[in-house]
Amino acid sequence: MVENETIKAILARRSIRRFEAKPVEREKIDALLACATAAPSANNFRPWHFVETTDPAALRALADAHPYGKMTAEAGVAIVVCAEKERDKVPDVWWEQDCGAAMENILVAAVALGLGGVWLGVHHHGPSGLPEKVRKVLGIPAHIQVMGIAAIGYGAEVKPPYGAADPALVHKGRW
Ligand SMILES: Cc1cc2nc3c(=O)[nH]c(=O)nc-3n(C[C@H](O)[C@H](O)[C@H](O)COP(=O)(O)O)c2cc1C
Repeated sequence: MVENETIKAILARRSIRRFEAKPVEREKIDALLACATAAPSANNFRPWHFVETTDPAALRALADAHPYGKMTAEAGVAIVVCAEKERDKVPDVWWEQDCGAAMENILVAAVALGLGGVWLGVHHHGPSGLPEKVRKVLGIPAHIQVMGIAAIGYGAEVKPPYGAADPALVHKGRW
């Protein structure tokens, strides 16, 4: 494997679900948001919005709302990745992929900044009503899609990094 700081950050990204009680600095949050908006997007319509909160009450409310997101209460910051899908000329096709790319940039940038985090999915097809619950916590308008939540903080757990790709999943030349 080549020695490279960016590659190291990508391979070191793991889901970190336990956090120290230590705030995330403003400049680091700004860097996470800059990296989010540097993601590629189909047709370059860039449909995303990001709602960040460091407010303990809001972090607790998000934790209460999300069935698999209880760690949000301990996070230093939550960034809710949203989409204004009407910005795209084909509104229901690309926004989830665009927002997924933005989310991954946040998670990898977090590692590069000495932080850890986890992607919390917000399923908008299911019966959970989760998007509406998240909208309510943060005042997100009804026409805005909620794609997921990045719960970020100083990690209180360590997980091993990934390594080389599994050859069984890589098809060289053709399948
Ligand atoms: C779309 C999506 C939704 C996810 N939702 C949750 C979630 O609600 N709660 C959670 O703890 N982890 C969630 N995760 C994180 C996965 O559980 C995690 O990526 C997977 O177990 C692999 O572990 P790793 O991230 O350490 O490689 C989600 C990941 C993705 C991509």
